[in-house]
Amino acid sequence: MSETLNTEHLVAEKVGSRLGAVLHGIDAKKDLTEDQKEFLNKELVKNKVIFLKKQFLDDAQHERLSRVFGEPILHPTIAPPQGTKYTFELKSRYGRSTDSWHTDVTFMTNYPKASILRALHIPPYGGTTIWANTATAYEALPAPLKALADAAWAIHSNDYDTNYYKFDSRKEEISAFRKEFTSQIYKTVHPVVRVHPDSGEKSLVLGHFVIGLDGFSTKDANALFEIFQNYITEIENTITWRWEPGDVAIWDNRSTQHYAPADFDQHRRELRRITVKGDIPINVDGKKSYYI
Ligand SMILES: [Fe+2]
Repeated sequence: MSETLNTEHLVAEKVGSRLGAVLHGIDAKKDLTEDQKEFLNKELVKNKVIFLKKQFLDDAQHERLSRVFGEPILHPTIAPPQGTKYTFELKSRYGRSTDSWHTDVTFMTNYPKASILRALHIPPYGGTTIWANTATAYEALPAPLKALADAAWAIHSNDYDTNYYKFDSRKEEISAFRKEFTSQIYKTVHPVVRVHPDSGEKSLVLGHFVIGLDGFSTKDANALFEIFQNYITEIENTITWRWEPGDVAIWDNRSTQHYAPADFDQHRRELRRITVKGDIPINVDGKKSYYI
């Protein structure tokens, strides 16, 4: 059968210690075989973030690739750019990027399973994206902290304390984006530890949309958040990707956080993202996230 023939060219090259692999043997401009689709899904769960190089996809090909991982969904508040159905545009505004650690859209209960990001315009320097493994972060916790995390619930909202505020007074365009982003306010309570539906791994669900910990004072919640979040963002627990033309990055949004350093001055940086529908997280006791 053709199975051996197809899979012998499919290679996952590990490029980070805790997460990250470059996948070879995939041309996402073409229709993918079932073997290729299975390979992509398997390696995504295993490596948490996978990279496909020299793809040069258009919007339609990007959407088709996203369907390999699930059902593409719209951002709940931001409209897609003209001519696309599901795309979320990440365009630098006055040198700004999403320079704070987060998991995409965790203010929704069923936040995305995965995000598929492609580079359109890369600045001459900087403009990398960094991912962190939230499962190894959980594993690294000492037992008493694991027990605390297992029992804790965090409140996530799109009306969070963003560092965009620093620039709001000066930059109208950033204010307009912020206004659209919060045109409808969502608040969701997620367990601090979720069980991955495919791998069974436990991982921390935190990041910049967290506005509090259920039952804790703001002071205590901030202190605890910082302790847990530091395990996630420890440098050894991350991988940095230096974008090249045509690159695509796909991450498991259930077991990672990411960060885009604003280190490219006023240069243009433009990427497009499509997210695919996720499930509602389940904690270690089988309890689900919920809206408030
Ligand atoms: Fe993001």
